[in-house]
Amino acid sequence: LRTVGKSLFVCPPHPSLELCPAVLFFSRPRCSGIPYVPQPRDKSVSARSVISFYNQSAIDIAAEKPSVRLTPTTILYAGKSPDNSHILRSAQYLYKELPVRVAHRIRDFRHLPFIVGCNPTILHVHELYIRSFHLLSEFPPVEDFESEEKYTKLVKDLLDDHKDVVTLLAEGFRESRKHIKEYKVIQDFLDRMLTSRLGIRMLAQHHIALHQEKPNYVGIICTQMSLKKIIEKWADFSRQVCEYKYGYAPRVRVLGHVGVVFPYIPLPLDYILPELLKNAMRATCEQHADNPVNMPDVTVTIANNDVDFIIRISDKGGGMPREILEKVMQYHFTTCGSEMDPASENLDGLGTMMSAMNDGPNGAGPMYGKRQQPKARNPDSEDSDSNGFGFGLPTSRAYAEYLGGSLTYNTMQGIGTDVYLRLRHIDGNYESFRI
Ligand code: ADP
Ligand code: COI
Repeated sequence: LRTVGKSLFVCPPHPSLELCPAVLFFSRPRCSGIPYVPQPRDKSVSARSVISFYNQSAIDIAAEKPSVRLTPTTILYAGKSPDNSHILRSAQYLYKELPVRVAHRIRDFRHLPFIVGCNPTILHVHELYIRSFHLLSEFPPVEDFESEEKYTKLVKDLLDDHKDVVTLLAEGFRESRKHIKEYKVIQDFLDRMLTSRLGIRMLAQHHIALHQEKPNYVGIICTQMSLKKIIEKWADFSRQVCEYKYGYAPRVRVLGHVGVVFPYIPLPLDYILPELLKNAMRATCEQHADNPVNMPDVTVTIANNDVDFIIRISDKGGGMPREILEKVMQYHFTTCGSEMDPASENLDGLGTMMSAMNDGPNGAGPMYGKRQQPKARNPDSEDSDSNGFGFGLPTSRAYAEYLGGSLTYNTMQGIGTDVYLRLRHIDGNYESFRI
């Protein structure tokens, strides 16, 4: 990458880019507002650009710095000042912090096995992060509300530019899986990438949300979050998707500590809950396809205590066969579209509820024919297209662990599955995770 003038970014003809179809990606102006300028392909320019690509000392320096991680309580009680100086402080924190975190992501891309890192889709995401690093680190210091407004606009644009990152990574690693010798390397990369990204996005969205007045909210923290309500919201959503795909959907009963209300950040739940509910509904529909009228309910039980809260999602969807137990938490493992064949890791992402939704009513096969398409795509969570990639469980587990909790399951083959999502409270009474 080179900076031309003040704000123009030019994708360099990096040697691997010249050799691979990634150039096609880069030539698409996918990112907001930054024009792509084709490079002349003579050798001297190429050599210069290679040097500029490797010689990214600003990234190297930032990648050496530790990130400053805050507890949600620190964020929650950071104080709201009548003169809005809290918004300025929040922007100044992001201004220092985002380049460091983005540089950490770039360092991880550089450490990927060479052949995997050359995959065009993965290179495209790598490139997105390099571009974001330069935009963020070359932004003039945020000193007043005028620059704060411009900086917030940049952050909003970057959030938008990065919204498909999980889907792209899922695609990229799927494409390069034949070159992956050590699954653990990829698992560690994805765990770090996805959780760090969750942190980055939570901080960025928190800052943006500080500008809005919403009852019971401080930024992205809901001070009175009702678990029952948020579960019901995602149950309704998942049922719509399920009905669209199968023509019917199990009902969802919410039991246990249904009255609990406490401060929490709904954002990660907006990703995890639909994933888990969707799995429970899919299993139920497929297990009871011959008698959909008497399908057993999916039961969600809430248990709350001082330290954490637990959500158990129980279905009678036939459980998981022994052969897949070891694999279900692996990135890319899915039985979608494969008749639950344990030996088959169908990776084409077809046959999933979400892809049915994305396909639309004219999408595929008679199953979708006259069915009403659900009104909305997953409205709050991004990357809903990654469904069917076998990313639901591993990503949800990585998020849960990042949030100081866990995601586990018990399954009884022939009967059903219980999935337990355990998350720590953020009210400051006990040690909390850091974002
Ligand atoms: P995807 O939904 O894209 O397949 P997930 O990571 O969410 O990806 O799930 C991986 C696999 O785990 C599923 O394809 C399915 O075989 C199995 N699975 C997950 N949840 C359940 C469940 N509640 N009952 C039975 N099998 C399940
Ligand atoms: C991401 O969503 O992947 C990001 O890192 C966003 C950030 C550049 C603002």
